[in-house]
Amino acid sequence: EGGFWRDRLGRPLHDLRISVTDHCNFRCRYCMPKEVFTSRHRFLAMTELLTFEEIERLAAIAVRNGVVKLRLTGGEPLLRRGIETLVERLAALRTPSGEPIDIAMTTNGSILAKKARALAEAGLKRVTVSLDAIDEDIFQGFNDVGFPAAKVLAGIDTALAEGFQVKVNTVVKRGVNEAETVRIAEHFRGTGVIPRFIEYMDVGTSNGWRMTEVVPSRETLDRIAERWAVDPIDPNYPGETASRWRYRDGAGEFGLISSVTQAFCRDCSRARLSMDGRLYLCLFATQGYDLRTMLRGGATDEEIETALGRIWSAREDRYSELRSLGLAPDRPKIEMSYIGG
Ligand code: GTP
Ligand code: 5AD
Ligand code: SF4
Ligand code: SF4
Repeated sequence: EGGFWRDRLGRPLHDLRISVTDHCNFRCRYCMPKEVFTSRHRFLAMTELLTFEEIERLAAIAVRNGVVKLRLTGGEPLLRRGIETLVERLAALRTPSGEPIDIAMTTNGSILAKKARALAEAGLKRVTVSLDAIDEDIFQGFNDVGFPAAKVLAGIDTALAEGFQVKVNTVVKRGVNEAETVRIAEHFRGTGVIPRFIEYMDVGTSNGWRMTEVVPSRETLDRIAERWAVDPIDPNYPGETASRWRYRDGAGEFGLISSVTQAFCRDCSRARLSMDGRLYLCLFATQGYDLRTMLRGGATDEEIETALGRIWSAREDRYSELRSLGLAPDRPKIEMSYIGG
């Protein structure tokens, strides 16, 4: 524990997710569907993006106040030019007690093979690669740009060879990739890679989410447990997104992220920073807090720190919990490609 700010529900801020670009070379149907993100979609101009200096400054203030984990996301973070220099700056941050912080990156893996060495040299220790299928037709159906699964798998191999701790995120959709879950589990058994199977969520508004497309984690677990004997294991930290399972034969572990059937808002210690400097307190937030204006308007670190503390202290977001209770407000939500997973 040891977060310094507490929100209205007593939750500390431990985990800051930083989205570094709104661009992506994939068009996953559940995230940036082609019909919406066309060639005419207006992406942000370079001057609207936080610079690496600005990101580092905010991250440093957050770390001074209890954040111990940073995650770089997007869009696709590897498309942001010079991303390894940002990694290098963030990797140099230390907690008030002098500990290094946990830095991870969520990537679609498409250019990971090319970038893994530079990222490792910059001090990145772990990556999470999105991979919804191993079957080429199904995978290419997901990314909707015909990008081969084989290339993402090669990126994962390169990352492993560079010494990264690798996780894989698999969104499970009814009638699309249920059978792929067992294939993915099988593929990564014994490799040290930890796959996590995610319930398809109602994030954003452009994906046309329907409850009938959600495969409950319980079902995914049953499918895997039918093949191999598995046991539950303790979470790494309170409020971890995934519940962890291990294979009894010692071939490693996998996770189940049940954001729809078992909300985990209770201990949610995550905040999200968009590429243009807005802070979002929930994946399902409608509005963010504009920090860029402060950053560019000459605010001191102390002023920014005070503002962040106030924003966090007033937080009472718990969207997934409310949705399970049938109380989710019916209003437009922010797109995931804007604030990252
Ligand atoms: P570790 O640091 O490895 O524990 O990763 P993580 O689970 O914190 O982060 P990751 O971004 O890999 O999360 C995996 C998936 O869980 C995301 O892609 C989302 O689908 C979902 N997820 C992550 N954070 C949240 C959250 O705060 N709320 C909800 N509802 N879903 C989340
Ligand atoms: N539901 C669940 N997970 C999602 N992701 C993107 N959209 C959704 C959704 N609607 C996940 C992707 C990726 C990460 C960035 O977020 O699998 O791993
Ligand atoms: Fe790109 Fe990731 Fe969104 Fe897919 S889920 S479109 S890879 S940002
Ligand atoms: Fe946190 Fe919001 Fe996700 Fe709940 S729905 S776990 S509050 S980000």
